[in-house]
Parts: sequence; structure tokens; C-alpha cells
Amino acid sequence: MSDPIKDYQLASKTLRQRDLRQGLYDEGAVLMDGVLVNLHGDKHKARRGLENKVFRRDFFKYYEREVFPDSLQATIDRFVDQGGGDLVEFGFRAMMNLTIDFAGIDRPDRTEEETDTLLRLLRSFALGTTLAHSKDDRERVRQEVRDALAEFDERFLQPSIDRRQAIIDQFEAGDLEEEALPRDVLTVLLRNEDNIDLPRDELLREMAFFFVAGAQTSIHSLVHSVHEIFDWCDTHPEDKQRLKDDPLFIQRCVHESARLHPSSPVAMRRAECPTHLPNDAAVDKDELVVIDLMGSNRDASVFGEDADLFNPNRDLSGSTAAYGLSFGLGMHACIGRNLAAGVTPRSDEAAADHQLGTITLIVQVLLAYNVRPDPDHAPQMDTKTERPNWGLYPVLIGPET
Ligand code: HEM
Repeated sequence: MSDPIKDYQLASKTLRQRDLRQGLYDEGAVLMDGVLVNLHGDKHKARRGLENKVFRRDFFKYYEREVFPDSLQATIDRFVDQGGGDLVEFGFRAMMNLTIDFAGIDRPDRTEEETDTLLRLLRSFALGTTLAHSKDDRERVRQEVRDALAEFDERFLQPSIDRRQAIIDQFEAGDLEEEALPRDVLTVLLRNEDNIDLPRDELLREMAFFFVAGAQTSIHSLVHSVHEIFDWCDTHPEDKQRLKDDPLFIQRCVHESARLHPSSPVAMRRAECPTHLPNDAAVDKDELVVIDLMGSNRDASVFGEDADLFNPNRDLSGSTAAYGLSFGLGMHACIGRNLAAGVTPRSDEAAADHQLGTITLIVQVLLAYNVRPDPDHAPQMDTKTERPNWGLYPVLIGPET
């Protein structure tokens, strides 16, 4: 294995290199075997092409405007009633509702018990995706993931399949219009218009992966963003009001925080065949190539001398994304990026027409409700993973008494 790549341009080109396949999830096969982010070549292209039918731009806009606000309001009301609590836990609840919807998992009961069960399953799946960074006994974690998959399948996935299949059958018999079909990943996979090969056990893992891919990344990005905004306001109190009034500025903060804190600090690839990296370094077949996303995102030659610091007023030239490589590039580039991060605004764009992304929307609502650090309880990093994520982030919310 060669040294991790920290040069931004080299990292970008390496992520686009087609003879390098996914290498980050070898440890987590119990959940990740055969899921989109772990596929390569034609199989990946076919699955991504099918799933892209859901992730169209008009879908993100519809979701952000029509579906998400109500779901978010219910979660925030509960948080405000309690006067605050753990922001990580709040993030899990807010994002879980979102991802369960577009993945296509029904919640027939809508009870607290059902929410808690889904949260527990989500946390177990999250352990499966990050097994390569786990500090726990990895075999114990694998068993926990297997148990969670079985429970998820019986209680949630199979009933969701049955309901959708009945609707699809009605549509195919000509008794329903296409618009009446649910707009989610599960429906697209069951209709399988492109006739891709998708065995039942792979469908189970794909759905669990979607559930966790959308939620876990966004949760950690949310908590990092809020933390960076708290720190920024300490040193730039003049921006407090701007953060309340200007959603585009909040989005800049979210993108800048995502640059500094990519959900996965590294991407890994394995060579399909003996090859050369874009800098001509030779790589053997099956050799692991590590792309240091966090390091590349702090490359001073691209982001300036203060690249290690949070600066939402950073001025970037050319096509460099404000969030750097945090959403990946190339064939595995994040399919949900516009949903989570929105679209980078053209300078003349009015905030009202702009797609902000779910993380910015959540931060906006939290700020509107006067979220602030809990002075009596310090935040703590998550000690169960080598990933630098917050494990507990106590905040207060609502009017100050
Ligand atoms: C802040 C939020 C998010 C971050 C930082 C993030 C980050 C990433 C990154 C870095 C990759 C590429 C992995 C690689 O190259 O190995 C990726 C892929 C992916 N992401 Fe996201 N993601 C986020 C939100 C979402 C959401 C909301 C969804 C679902 C709607 C999602 C679904 C996926 C999927 C399915 C892939 C695999 C794509 C493929 O392999 O073709 N992500 N994400």
C-alpha cells in the first residue's frame, strides 16, 4: 500500500480512475456485499442507472419543499418541548424519517416504539458500514448487524415489498396511473424496468445500506456544522443575525464544515489490474490505494493558507466545490449529494428559489429556535470509532430564561 494521497488534484483524478474498484468495505461485507457503493463496472452502472430514476433533480426539489418540512417540524417540536438534549440523537431522529421515506420503507404503526426500533436498527447498520474503523470486537459487531438485518427484513422490508408489489401489479394491469406509484428506491428496484440481476438477499442489504447511507453521513455533518457555527459566532458575533436572516450563508457554513469534516475521512480503492495512478506511481493488482479526503480537503494550494480553519467566507476559484471531495467523485460520487447539500448557488440567485439541502434546512430551523451549547454539559467525541465524529452534543433550545 502506497502513502495516502493528500494532494487535492491527484485525489480528484484518482477517484475518477476506472480500473480502481471500491476498497473501503471489505471488512463490512456482512452489510455491504453487493450494495451499490461496493459494485464495480457494468454491474455498478446498471444498478446506479436504475436507482437514478429516483434521484432526479425535480425529486430533490419536491422533497425539500413538500415532504421534508412537515417531517422536520414534528422532530423539532419534540426537541423544543424538551428544551434541548443531545444533538446527535436529534439528528438521528430527523434524518431517519427522511431516509426511510425515500428508501421506501413503510412505518405502519407510527408509534414511539416503532421509531425507537428503527433508530436501534439504524445504529446497528451504521456499525456495519464503518467496520473498517471500528474499535469494537468486529465479530460481535458482525453478529449484531446480521440480527438487525433479520429483524429489519421481517418487520419492515417484507411488508413494504408486499404493499408496493400490489400497487405495481395494479399499475401493470392498467388500473392505476404511473403517478400513483410510490416515489422511492424500493419501488424502482421492484419494478426493475432495466431487468438487472438483484437477488433477494442483495435487495435486503441494498435497502439497509440506503437507510444508513442517507442518515448517518448527514447526521454527523449536521453536528459538525452546528459546532463550527457556535465557534464562529464566538469569534464573529456580528454574524449571529446574518445566520438567522441569510439561508445562503448557512449553506456556506454547512459546505465549509463538510470540507473540514468529511463523513469518511478516507476513500479506499483496490486495483483491478496492474496500473498506474495519475502521477505515474505503479500499483499492483489488488493493491489498496488510500485517498485521504480530509487531508486533500485541507490542501493549502487549493483552499489557501488557512485551509485547516473554518472560514465560510472562503473565496474559491474555478470549479472547486466548497465541500471539497466530501461527496466523492467519479463513478461512486454520492447519489444523494443534492438532497443533503443542495446546489451551490449562482451568485445572483435568490434564496427563495434555491435548493439548500436538508442539512442547511435543519440548521436553519435549529438557529431559528435559538439553539446554543449547553453550558453545563460538554460535548464528547464518539469513542467507538476511529472516525472523528461527535458522540454526544448537549444543546439547549428555545427562549433563554
Ligand atoms: C452529508 C451527507 C452525505 C455525505 C458526506 C455523503 C458522502 C458520500 C461519499 C463520500 C460517497 C462516495 C463513497 C466512495 O467514493 O467510496 C457517497 C456515496 C453514496 N452516497 Fe452519500 N453522502 C451523504 C448523503 C447521502 C444521502 C442523503 C444519500 C441518499 C439519498 C446518500 C447515498 C449515497 C449512495 C447510494 C452512494 C453510493 C453511490 C455509488 O456508489 O454509486 N448519501 N456518499
